[in-house]
Amino acid sequence: MDHIAVVLAAGKGTRMRSPLPKVLHEVAGRPMLAWVLDAVVATKPSRTVVVVGYGGEQVMATLPPDVEACVQEPQGGTGHATEVALGHLGSGDEDVVVVPGDVPLLGADTLAPLARGGDVAATILTATLDDPTGYGRVVRDEGGRVRAVVEQTDADPETLTIREVNVGMYRFRRADLDEALAAIGDDNAQGEKYLTDVVGWLVARGRPVEAVEVPATETMGVNDHVQLARANAVRRRWILERWMAEGVAVSDPDTTYVDAGVELGVGVRLHPGVHLRGATRVGEGAEIGPDVYLEDSRVGEGARVWYSVLRGVEVGPEVQVGPYASLRPGTVLARGAKAGTFVEMKNTSVGEGAKVPHLSYLGDASVGDRANVGAGTITCNYDGYDKHRTEIGADAFIGSDTMLVAPVTIGEAAVTGAGSVITRDVAPGALAVERSQQREIPGYAARRAARKAAQEAED
Ligand code: UD1
Ligand code: MG
Repeated sequence: MDHIAVVLAAGKGTRMRSPLPKVLHEVAGRPMLAWVLDAVVATKPSRTVVVVGYGGEQVMATLPPDVEACVQEPQGGTGHATEVALGHLGSGDEDVVVVPGDVPLLGADTLAPLARGGDVAATILTATLDDPTGYGRVVRDEGGRVRAVVEQTDADPETLTIREVNVGMYRFRRADLDEALAAIGDDNAQGEKYLTDVVGWLVARGRPVEAVEVPATETMGVNDHVQLARANAVRRRWILERWMAEGVAVSDPDTTYVDAGVELGVGVRLHPGVHLRGATRVGEGAEIGPDVYLEDSRVGEGARVWYSVLRGVEVGPEVQVGPYASLRPGTVLARGAKAGTFVEMKNTSVGEGAKVPHLSYLGDASVGDRANVGAGTITCNYDGYDKHRTEIGADAFIGSDTMLVAPVTIGEAAVTGAGSVITRDVAPGALAVERSQQREIPGYAARRAARKAAQEAED
């Protein structure tokens, strides 16, 4: 029988102590809810509806197009949230699968018992934990049949010792669910309508309820930052292991952070302290790290990037970046180019084989193929009001410590003298020097020493 999926995501997540809705806190670079929806959608429900409430607009903006949303306002508990979803869905007879939005390690396999369903009023998933703190406990009778789920806040000391917990994932027969939700109240420690009470209500009326135990890891709920960090550590490790299986060398998985949306080529090597974020792609055989932060950037085959920060950057094949480069959005380095030590670039393209090896700032600039930009070169791109461009032609040689006051164009194969402040365009092939003539005063050091000696004799 087909099923409808309901994902509960209206809670604020009080225990996060954060204005961000809990389900939008990120695990491996994606909102928790996105991970949950992947698993839920993989069970092929006929419809999927997410119950939003706190920060509803923000949550809705992250939903894929074929997922519906409905608003629970105010948030009266998981049972109330489910009622709101049923109201949105309208009457029907398909089974309803309910999953919480705060289980970012969830995979489709764990949901399989709920996707299948059975000839029962309800199926609930449970897990056995070493530390069940915070979860609802699954109470069974002497025959091992489920009797009820009791929330931590409502449990007596004996119930608290139970290590089998409710993971918050269920499949209900629609008619039974409607009936139970209409009947249960909110007479509990939190004054909320608990979805968990549906279980006890059905059992008390002799309706068959089945409990299926699943592995604990995937069903871990995130209610606070400690659990969020744990979930991140697990997802991160899964992502790294997947890439290792694809031929990526990870020398220290404990300090390597790869977001879910990142793509890595065969033979990529990741050294300690690497962060690959957002839509980053790294080509075959590239070597990244130690200590590199790459966000929404592309790195070509065989490139080498170390001790550097790159955001919104395109690094061509065989390029060298770092150590200590900061490359900002709009930077494009063509094949074989170099951005070396203490180099900052923004909105700048560097041509094939061109080199910017040391201590430079290039902003709103283009550097032609094979050009060499000397140490200490700066594009003075900002006049206090507007930004201006600097164009450096192919094969140009920019002397060390050149100030290029934009807008300015340096022609192909032109040369600037070290220490020059260049304010006017330089023709192709020309040398532009802007500095005073060097004077030389012979014998100066000896005369100075003699003056000093005479003064000391007087004192
Ligand atoms: C819930 C279960 C508990 C289970 C645990 C598993 C209840 C009463 N308790 O507790 O038995 O062990 O999950 O992780 O169901 N939500 C709404 N509207 C609300 C309240 C909550 O949409 O009014 C959503 C939350 O956004 C969240 C999910 O429901 O995604 C679960 O709520 P949460 O407050 O995390 O419940 P737990 O205390 O974890
Ligand atoms: Mg929870």
